[in-house]
Amino acid sequence: IKRIGILTSGGDAPGMNAVVRAVVRTASAYGISCLGIRRGYSGLINGDIIELGARSVDGIIAKGGTMLYTARCLEMLTDDGLTQAANNAHYMGLDGLVVCGGDGSFRGAQALSRKGVPAIGVPGTIDNDIVCSDYTIGFDSACNTAIQAIDKLRDTMQSHERCSVVEVMGRRAGHLALDVGVACGATAILLPEREIDFEKSIVEKMRANRIRGRKHHIIIVAEGVGNAQDVADRIHTATGIDARVTILGHIQRGGSPTVRDRVMATRMGYHAVKILMEGASNRVVCARNNQITDYDIEEGLAMSKDLNQELYEVSQTVSI
Ligand code: F6P
Repeated sequence: IKRIGILTSGGDAPGMNAVVRAVVRTASAYGISCLGIRRGYSGLINGDIIELGARSVDGIIAKGGTMLYTARCLEMLTDDGLTQAANNAHYMGLDGLVVCGGDGSFRGAQALSRKGVPAIGVPGTIDNDIVCSDYTIGFDSACNTAIQAIDKLRDTMQSHERCSVVEVMGRRAGHLALDVGVACGATAILLPEREIDFEKSIVEKMRANRIRGRKHHIIIVAEGVGNAQDVADRIHTATGIDARVTILGHIQRGGSPTVRDRVMATRMGYHAVKILMEGASNRVVCARNNQITDYDIEEGLAMSKDLNQELYEVSQTVSI
């Protein structure tokens, strides 16, 4: 193959730049030229492209966000949009395309592969919700960003003997909330995947803790569970404890990627280019048992992934 393209799509995640770097550098090492497609699939439809060489990605491994910009492109869901994207890819002479994003972005890669543009997905989302991969790029950085903020919240909650109700991202998945909840020693973690008995798991626990001398609490709520203010109001009504809400929001998507994200991004970006060179198409790169591998996109997205049940049980036991 002579030329490939790289784009980032969907919600950004720390480590996307490290994927771009790994793809460009691996391509360059094998004498393959690389085009950066900007603003996700919109850039493919509109021809918004830049040439990328080994030197144009210097220094970006440490940067959050994505130098290629990102977008959620609804046009890709239409026949016209998809055809235009595929035609442009052919016109640009792309022998392959690497798409870093979430499952919606992989659907686009699958559709392009069917139109003769070999496309490979690389999981980049802070939600860690790509079902065929144990890990998605950005998760570790987002957890660490959340923890840094919550550690600060704990200081002030302790001083005022309050309860902090913290909403973390995760519209459909609680992976981020679970890891963050365990890492900050939360009293309770509310997840979209698990029903919780509010009275028993939160109110009674807080009352018992108060008797034992604990005067401040942290409750983690995954975005997908519902309204954090409702949770705080219920706590206040039931216990009389002053409960304050903090929504961490998009802060979790920013910042310099952690070592884990930089390393995973580099391994996955490298793998994507290597399989394109071997003639692969319509694949998603995954981490399984700390090995980097790949699956057919359809097959990969049809797999299932639950929360880490062992960690969930641990969190229940140690949060007394
Ligand atoms: O996909 C990652 C994610 O951060 C979700 O957890 C969140 O619900 C969503 O993106 C929000 O994205 P945006 O506000 O950029 O549309």
